Amino acid sequence: MKVLFCSSEVFPFAKTGGLADVCGTLPPEIAQCGAEVKVIMPLYREVRKKTKNLEEIDETVSRAMLSDDVEILFVRNDDYYDRAGLYGDENGDFPDNLMRFQFFNRQVLKTLKMLDWQADIIHCHDWHAALIPVYLKTKHKDDKFFRDTKTVLTIHNLAFQGLFPKDQYPLLGLPDDLYSEEGFQYYDQINLLKAGIIYSDEVTTVSPQYATEIQTEEYGCGLDGVIQKYRKGVVGILNGLDYHYWNPAKDPFIAKHYDRDSVISGKAETKAVLQREMGLPVDIDRPVFGYVGRLSHQKGMDLVVDALSALQGDDVQVVIQGLGTQQYQDELSELRNEMPDRLGICFSYNERLAHTIYAGSDWFLMPSNFEPCGLAQMISMHYGTPPIVYRTGGLADTVESFQLDEANGNGLVFQEYTTDALLQAVRLAEEIFRDKRQYFSLVANAMHTLFPWRESAMKYFELYRCLRLESQEV
Ligand code: GLC
Repeated sequence: MKVLFCSSEVFPFAKTGGLADVCGTLPPEIAQCGAEVKVIMPLYREVRKKTKNLEEIDETVSRAMLSDDVEILFVRNDDYYDRAGLYGDENGDFPDNLMRFQFFNRQVLKTLKMLDWQADIIHCHDWHAALIPVYLKTKHKDDKFFRDTKTVLTIHNLAFQGLFPKDQYPLLGLPDDLYSEEGFQYYDQINLLKAGIIYSDEVTTVSPQYATEIQTEEYGCGLDGVIQKYRKGVVGILNGLDYHYWNPAKDPFIAKHYDRDSVISGKAETKAVLQREMGLPVDIDRPVFGYVGRLSHQKGMDLVVDALSALQGDDVQVVIQGLGTQQYQDELSELRNEMPDRLGICFSYNERLAHTIYAGSDWFLMPSNFEPCGLAQMISMHYGTPPIVYRTGGLADTVESFQLDEANGNGLVFQEYTTDALLQAVRLAEEIFRDKRQYFSLVANAMHTLFPWRESAMKYFELYRCLRLESQEV
């Protein structure tokens, strides 16, 4: 079986978020299941800078290896992709993004023909690749080359849909009647993800809980009705974690390596380093609450900021790393002035510090308002840092709340998206932390919780197999 992954970002070539991690790690796992896998993405400037063995196939496409058995192809168009950012610059999104991504989608199909590589499955990720199913079912409807090709569209975050002004519709090169309720039209705009949802053969998302949520008005971002009308359902397959990279026993970024047997001393040493680096008093007895991620509403920063004001009297420390809106940065800077021995902040992404926060904190804060899957909670658990999460999406699927005096649970889950509920969870965390027997049994549970990619890859593989059978039956 031949499978082509199409994504705008793939780690380690280009990354702005979790999408890149998934598209960098999942394809080799699918190859391990027995498929022949290729990946394709745009040839951004940073790809060219970073990739040593980039080989030009012709002037439109280059290639390199993602892993021993997975090749990655790069669609070239220097006018579109040879820029500093992936999607925009300091002035916002690039105004020609529709042009840039429709080009990418069309080139994907052209490249397959040029290479004479007949994919059984084209696995499209997010709105950047959502046009491929549409082109296949319209422009290439009678094209023998793609007769047996099926498409899967994976939604990594329904909040990003690829919206463009309707007067740009002719750029897509599609019949006028596709700009309608049954196609691209979304209120008065073009919506690429909507069309992808309607035209792909299967729609999946990155956790079972989020698959259910996006069919409701609360989480559907205006597309719940479309999903209900055009799909029998959405398949939820949980992302995994790359345990070769995220491993406290080998992590080159942390002060002291540790595993389940040496977690107490390992974390203690790393915690001291973290406190020192963040300009906080080194104190093993004060619980440190860590945060790594974008400073955004999605990630629950509004709750964190509110909760911090209320925590001024508590004997805790909070460390935060991430980039975000100016408003959150200003609010946090002000809070740091008010509580300099309790709050440490770093407004940029630094890989070493991120690892130190995962390892050296006693608790990990991740009160996302919505979270399709989430990676940080999986990482923190593996580093023995129990996460505190709101019960939503992938967080609900991966974190089970710890109950005092009971053996189960790998973190703390609060049920209502309010500052009070978060504060209650933080105060419970302080109490658990004081009782070291309870705390370290929770830490052990967290470290035992694994999300191997292999299991998820097998689910995708099975889904591809079913689709392929369908195309053979026709
Ligand atoms: C998006 C989602 C995140 C998910 C990631 C990878 O970034 O917001 O929850 O883990 O995609 O699927």
